[in-house]
Amino acid sequence: VSVAVIVVAAGSGTRLGYSLPKALVSLAQRPILSRSLDPVFALEREVQLVVVVPRQHSALAEQIVRDTAGRASTSCSIVVGGVSRQESVAAGLAALEPSIEVVLVHDAARALTPVAQFEAIIAAVTETGLAAIPGLPVSDTIKRTDGFGRVVATVDRSELSAVQTPQGFPRAQLEAAYAAASGDFTDDAALIQTAGHDVTIISGDPLAFKITTPWDLRRAEQLLADAAP
Ligand code: C5P
Repeated sequence: VSVAVIVVAAGSGTRLGYSLPKALVSLAQRPILSRSLDPVFALEREVQLVVVVPRQHSALAEQIVRDTAGRASTSCSIVVGGVSRQESVAAGLAALEPSIEVVLVHDAARALTPVAQFEAIIAAVTETGLAAIPGLPVSDTIKRTDGFGRVVATVDRSELSAVQTPQGFPRAQLEAAYAAASGDFTDDAALIQTAGHDVTIISGDPLAFKITTPWDLRRAEQLLADAAP
């Protein structure tokens, strides 16, 4: 099957506290965007790569993608994102080549995601014909609150999974779900479920954590320093 990977990198990343969009912020000497593309270029198979970049600084983002592109055989499209993640994914979907059958959507902010997680998602979607997403068990006890500081209930954490990206989908399913989408969804699998399709969870990897706060950025830098020879 032919596979595309859409990497969404168009967010502002205000919680990180930089004036630059998050994907352009440096993580141990290389932009987060550049590091997030490493596993895509490390894939055995040929894929179509679609990178969704922030409208402001799009020239800089494009330069980063070009500088990172290691393999001439990877077809790479660059498109400008929207004001929400959902709009950015939609912009990426519009750039898919006609032959694509399986689509992975990945957050650039999950910059240390291992290539094995991409491979596992591609394998799961290809084998089952269903959407597949990576998830990890939740280790904290989770409370539901009323929004005013009062605890309403304790949620059974054995039923919970903290989900990551890349999330993988049969192309036709994802396109139809986006065409029908109304409202705001924080991940793509939620749209697929709203459209009535099954979604399979496979085991995620702690390294696929999302860089959101300055603390996350420090953690990523430490992990890269630990891994350096
Ligand atoms: O904001 P958050 O970290 O949850 O965003 C997840 C991913 O979605 C990031 O990689 C971010 O760049 C991307 N995004 C986007 N367009 C937006 C908002 C977020 O591509 N408008």
